[in-house]
Amino acid sequence: MLTSFLVRAVPSTFDLLLKPLHRRVWADAHRRASKLLRFAETEASGGRDLSRAAERTRDPSLRRLFMRHAEEEQRHADLFRRRGRELLSCSPGRSRFEANWLAPGERGLDDLQIDAHCDESLLAFLHLSEKAAAGRFALYAQVLDCDPDTRTVFVRILEDEVFHMNYTRKQLARLAPRKQGLRLWQARAGRLFKAYLRLATALASVLGTLMLGIQYFVLLPPFALLAKRGARREPPGFAAARAPTPLQRQY
Ligand SMILES: [Fe+2]
Ligand SMILES: [Fe+2]
Repeated sequence: MLTSFLVRAVPSTFDLLLKPLHRRVWADAHRRASKLLRFAETEASGGRDLSRAAERTRDPSLRRLFMRHAEEEQRHADLFRRRGRELLSCSPGRSRFEANWLAPGERGLDDLQIDAHCDESLLAFLHLSEKAAAGRFALYAQVLDCDPDTRTVFVRILEDEVFHMNYTRKQLARLAPRKQGLRLWQARAGRLFKAYLRLATALASVLGTLMLGIQYFVLLPPFALLAKRGARREPPGFAAARAPTPLQRQY
């Protein structure tokens, strides 16, 4: 069953190279639970966006497909949430580093403004998102030897993700037979720009932390020493002000 999906949903070369790292990320039960609960939120948000897409399209068959897609994303959210809670109840503890940059799951619609896109560009974007998600879920199913129940959840969801990946591509070919390649390239460029923004934000966060650390440990200590030396020169107890404050004004 798993193998038949893996043939169609192929993990990216980058993810395959990092497979041992993925195995380690998913090995910890508490981290697994946190990740599944976060995936549930993303899937539910994607479902809401697709309901909105179904509302605004004028194409009846696309509306039906978007509605089905929205229902399935909501079902994925329920499956992830249920399994995440089961894992949490078995392994209570502190939340651990989730390594979301490495194993982000399905990215949802990545803050895509549904109303600002035509059906064609939305289908192109959805196709690429679903393809990436299907590849990642196939990989997660492969590395979850330690937890067959969670693996079953991924295999079940993978079946739907492969359908999403295929129907979006077919519908794009139907609606834009001549421009399908262009739409896919535009969607790819948009995803690349968002990936750059994510990387730039992460880098800015690291540099910000580094700069604050340098200020705290390198720039502040001399001032603290000077303040200590100044405090030692002060006489103990109450002392009259060196320059008496005039009583006619506040300062
Ligand atoms: Fe999904
Ligand atoms: Fe999906």
